[in-house]
Amino acid sequence: MHVARPHVDESPTDPDIAAVLFDRDTIAARVKSLAQRIADDWRAYTEAEHHAADLTLVPILTGSFIFVADLIRCLPMRLQIRLLSISSYPGPATTSRGPQVQAGLGNLPASLEGAHLLLVDDILDSGRTLAMAVDLLRQRRPASLRTAVLLRKDRPEARAFPVDYVCFDVPDVFVAGYGLDYNDYYRNLPDIVTLRPEVFSPSAPHENAPC
Ligand code: IMP
Ligand code: MG
Repeated sequence: MHVARPHVDESPTDPDIAAVLFDRDTIAARVKSLAQRIADDWRAYTEAEHHAADLTLVPILTGSFIFVADLIRCLPMRLQIRLLSISSYPGPATTSRGPQVQAGLGNLPASLEGAHLLLVDDILDSGRTLAMAVDLLRQRRPASLRTAVLLRKDRPEARAFPVDYVCFDVPDVFVAGYGLDYNDYYRNLPDIVTLRPEVFSPSAPHENAPC
């Protein structure tokens, strides 16, 4: 049977890429090894506690959706997903406007008492988003809380912020792809990239009205 394949080799957004920081194969390998570490730590933790427990992943939307989709398929334990929607770069902003919880709390229940949580975000920049999310989760009284990020920027605030798992350290530049956006575009790029400066100019074709 003939199966039509989408053309994924070339995308209209390719000319907007300045450089590829991490390509898809490198990302896949690192996500797999991070999952292995999480699984090993989880096994050690549950063995030490002498009881079987479930893990609950809490991805911060929107940027972590591809990372978490790949990550959970490498995780062997029983797990659940609770979504949390926080945004700090509205529209075409490339500097944080301060994190805000969007659209209620995703599907986060009022109590997470006794739950073992793994909070997952795409990128640790100033640390304000993770700090807000950690605070929201701690109020729900989980039994344990760990944090994982795909990327950590090379800036003092990010390095000082305590996170349990980091896939990649990146320079302090604006990055996109593999779930990360600029103005809600580029999330579908399979690699993690930097963008050409023209993309950020007010006359750029994709730009929505600044909010
Ligand atoms: P923080 O609150 O300053 O740590 O910023 C974290 C949030 O800002 C992340 O969850 C991302 O959504 C967004 N963000 C920070 N840096 C970038 C970037 O370089 N590209 C795309 N989004 C970013
Ligand atoms: Mg985000």
